[in-house]
Amino acid sequence: MIDKKPVTAATLLRAKQNGEKTVWLTAYDAASASIAEAAGADVLLVGDSLGMVCLGYDTTIPVMLEDMIHHTKAVVRGNKTAWVVCDLPFGSYQESPEQAVKTSVRVMQETGCDAVKLEGGAHMAETIRFLTERGIAVVGHIGLTPQSIKKLGVYGMQGKTEDAQAQLLADAQAVEQAGAGALVLECIPEGLAAKITGKLGIPTVGIGAGPGCDAQVLVWHDLLGLSEKNPSFAPAYANLREIISDAIGRWAADVRNGTFPKS
Ligand code: KIV
Repeated sequence: MIDKKPVTAATLLRAKQNGEKTVWLTAYDAASASIAEAAGADVLLVGDSLGMVCLGYDTTIPVMLEDMIHHTKAVVRGNKTAWVVCDLPFGSYQESPEQAVKTSVRVMQETGCDAVKLEGGAHMAETIRFLTERGIAVVGHIGLTPQSIKKLGVYGMQGKTEDAQAQLLADAQAVEQAGAGALVLECIPEGLAAKITGKLGIPTVGIGAGPGCDAQVLVWHDLLGLSEKNPSFAPAYANLREIISDAIGRWAADVRNGTFPKS
């Protein structure tokens, strides 16, 4: 765990330079933010995965900017020192660099978050540069980019061919050169993730990308065993689904048999 002063982009960069791993975790509300931050998460990512884990959608596509703002405000309220990153949702930045700035300014002013994250490699470099030159901290995201699921067809490992691996390396370098402060590598081969990590000066954040990244990120529900099914790379560290349903079941039984509340 890095020190308890407020985490900044510079803190994360320094951690990479010192060979220290940093810990990123998704959070979607004030309670999860406060628990995660107090337990030592360095970065709270308000992922658009909230569409799937909190809002009941099948993909992240239907997530609206208002959803992201609503949840990010809550995370910022629950947080003390972690760096808070808000995902820009599908359709809120892809049109033009100007659209991305407008969206990011709104997100930052309304939520108080520290950075925005957007999906895409070299083709998004112009947008990332446009944002960073205007003082906005950006986290990139390449490999499996869930907002492209309708194009990809399935959620699965990316970068399986030599050409695809070369493209991902070029994407990573383009994102760094455009000024991003960190880069999420989702579902790419371990060796490629380690190679990208070695070539970049900015921290890489792995999810399904092996141990060679500078940081790891997991989805709150997967880490804590709240998901119905976990990805193979993310074993649950607790079984909250079972604990919660057991507690509700015992309380419901007590209500029905008249032992709750006690008189
Ligand atoms: O939306 C999200 O939670 C993410 C992480 C999986 C990286 O983008």
